[in-house]
Formats: sequence, structure tokens, C-alpha cells
Amino acid sequence: MKRVDDFRLRFGKQELVPIVIGGMGVDISTADLALEAARLGGIGHISDAMVKTVADRRFNTKFVKEKLKLYKYNVENPDKSAVQFDLGQLAEATRLHVGKTMEAKRGPGMIFVNCMEKLTMNAPRETLRVRLATALDAGVDGITLAAGLHLGSFALIEDHPRFRDAKLGIIVSSLRALQLFLRKSARTNRLPDFVVVEGPLAGGHLGFGMDWAQYDLATIVAEIHAWLVAEKLDIPLIPAGGIFTGSDAVSFLENGAAAVQVATRFTVARECGLPEKVQQEYFKASEDKIVVNQISPTGYPMRMLTSSPAIGSGIRPNCEAYGYLLDANGSCAYVQAYNREVAAHPGARRVSVMDKTCLCTHMRNFDCWTCGHYTYRLKDTSRKLEDGNYEILSAEHIFKDYQFSTDNKIALPD
Ligand SMILES: Cc1cc2nc3c(=O)[nH]c(=O)nc-3n(C[C@H](O)[C@H](O)[C@H](O)COP(=O)(O)O)c2cc1C
Repeated sequence: MKRVDDFRLRFGKQELVPIVIGGMGVDISTADLALEAARLGGIGHISDAMVKTVADRRFNTKFVKEKLKLYKYNVENPDKSAVQFDLGQLAEATRLHVGKTMEAKRGPGMIFVNCMEKLTMNAPRETLRVRLATALDAGVDGITLAAGLHLGSFALIEDHPRFRDAKLGIIVSSLRALQLFLRKSARTNRLPDFVVVEGPLAGGHLGFGMDWAQYDLATIVAEIHAWLVAEKLDIPLIPAGGIFTGSDAVSFLENGAAAVQVATRFTVARECGLPEKVQQEYFKASEDKIVVNQISPTGYPMRMLTSSPAIGSGIRPNCEAYGYLLDANGSCAYVQAYNREVAAHPGARRVSVMDKTCLCTHMRNFDCWTCGHYTYRLKDTSRKLEDGNYEILSAEHIFKDYQFSTDNKIALPD
């Protein structure tokens, strides 16, 4: 019986343990978590989602306060189109977050940054270019292009000196999306170094519609694998979404995958950014408390716990401080939904908004409890303590359990 450790992910001459901890935005996949993955010989992700907030938290900078001060006059205005990001400050925050993480890296693994195209930031191209280029400047080992088709993302950085040396990859949920990306990026004469194939059981946003349950990760991976072989394209495939045990991972590795990307198991790691109170919610969740809904203003379905405080919350939009989901016209589906409810309830001190959520604020406050489908199995990965809570695990314990387990077993903490 094989185990994950019998396989290696190869990037040129470099060999890695084929375990990738996926990016979990807004600082759920912390630098500490990514650093552990790298120390243990795998790949860890940090995320650049709401990077100014993350930098303020990590380095005591005042990026958010300064932006709010600049746009305070607009807080009561239902029109948010005036709220822009200062590209210099965006670069500075990215340089701090990524650069300090890379400085702290030890061990044979790698650290990538997860970069979501759906963070359109009221100037999609300009802000994305700064985020990608600055992460490369700051020495990141690689970038995973996420949450979007990224048809123009390679072109945005093709003049960067590290464009051909950093590992660049993309997350897709279908062969069609991959084909489109390759066709649109062909002009840059550079293939992705890896492709993460994310299925419908993943956490965060899904690359499927509300018919997600009709899709199956193994089938999509097999289809993409067969097409790559037929086209003689040698690009490592990294399945993600619902790979809960080392044995689940082995079955993908035996069927042509180069590595696996996992996340949900690490939401209950000590190094993970979720507050411990929230981690206990994840441990205790039952299957019927995990839903896929459409409250994310991005337009993508998102999986989360039904007890997430974000659901139904009608807080005033915080675009003056954050504003990461403002589209190219300065609009966000939550701002529209909120304005509609305010207009429908004149004089009300509070409104409830059911159809959309202020994702910036709620992700920033760890109040949108996004999670993978198998979150209800987390209770089987730890010990229940006398007070009814579960023991928080170390990232090393979870990583090594994936790496060495056989027979679908999950090792409990000592
Ligand atoms: C709490 C949480 C937050 C996530 N946030 C992001 C994100 O910001 N960007 C992204 O590309 N994927 C995100 N994901 C998806 C993961 O990176 C990963 O691909 C997927 O969840 C793997 O499936 P698993 O959770 O079943 O192991 C998130 C997943 C979780 C559980």
C-alpha cells in the first residue's frame, strides 16, 4: 500500500513532498502556516487578499486607516466609484507581507502567493499588475492565479525579470477553462508550471454554478490529464477539493496527479489564522450545517457554515476602508443590495441583507466561515476534550498525517 511520501513533485531539478496547502484568504492561510509547509518540504500559500489589512495586522502599518481617512467624506454616499487604491501603498503592503514571509522561509519547500482575479479593486488591471509584479519583486517562489479566468494575467507581467523563473500556475475547474487560458496566454510563449484542478467539494469560492454537485473532481482531472497527454503538454496537475486523507491523495497521485492541494484539514491547525473559537465551530459542524450559497458579491457560489455571522448581516459597506470587490465601475453587488434594503426601510436603524454579504468586512473579521465540504469530518481528526472542545492540531501533525498515512487512516494527536 503506497503513501504520499512515495511520490515527489518535480519542478525541474527540485523535488518536493507533493502536498500543497492551498491559499485561504484573508489571512486564514497565514505566513506561519505556509512556512510550516515549506519547512516540511511541501508548498505553502499565503494570500494577497486584503493585503493592506493583513500588513497592518502583521507589521503595525496604518494602510487601512489612511485609506479610510482619505475617503471618509464618501462613507454615507451610496456611490463608491470614487474610492481608489493607491498603487504605491498597495505595492508597499505586498512587499511587506510577501517579503517578510520569504525572509523567514526555512527548509526545502516553497512558498507561493494565491492571487485572486476577482479582487477587482476598482481598477482590475492596474491593481493586479502591481500585486503580481510586487510579489515577484519580493522573492516569492511562485504565484497561483485563482478566482477568475486570468486570460490577461501572464501578459501583465511578461516583462518582469522573474517571469520565466518563478513558478506560475492557475486554478481551473474544467478543461475548457484551461484551454481558454492557454490560448489567451500563448502569445507570452510561456506555459504554466502547474495547474491546480479544483473540484466542487473545495472551500472558498467554487468555479461551478449551483449545479456543483453534478461534478466530480476525479473525472475532471482524468479529462484534463488525457488532453494534456494527447497534446504532449507536460504540465504538473494538482487536484484539490475534498482530498481528506493521505489515501485519497495517493489515489490521485497514482492516476497522474503530480501533487495534491489541500486546505480544510489545516483550518484547525494552530498556525492557521482562524480564531480558536471559530476553529471549534469548524470541528463541531455537522454535514447539514455546511451550505453552498450565492451571498458572495463576486458572483461565484461559496461554501460556508450556516452559522456564519456574515449571513443576513446588513452592515454598512466599508469600501472606503477596504473596497477590494469594487468592479471596474466602482460597483459591488453588496453595495447595491444594501442600498436597496435601506431604500425599502426608510428610517430603520438596521437592515438585514439576505442575498449578498459585505465579504471584505466579514472575511476581515473572520465572520464568513467558508469551508470545504468535508468540514464535518474534522471532528474525526482530533480528540474531544473534557470541556467539549476539540484539541487544536499542529500543522506539522496534519501535514505528516497526509504524508505518511495509509488505509484511509487519520492519526490523532498524541
Ligand atoms: C477557509 C478556506 C478559505 C479558502 N480561501 C481561498 C482563497 O482565498 N483563494 C483560493 O484560491 N482558494 C481558497 N480556498 C480553496 C483552497 O485553497 C483549496 O483549493 C481547497 O479548499 C482544497 O479543498 P479541501 O479544502 O477540501 O482540502 C479556501 C478554502 C478554505 C477551506
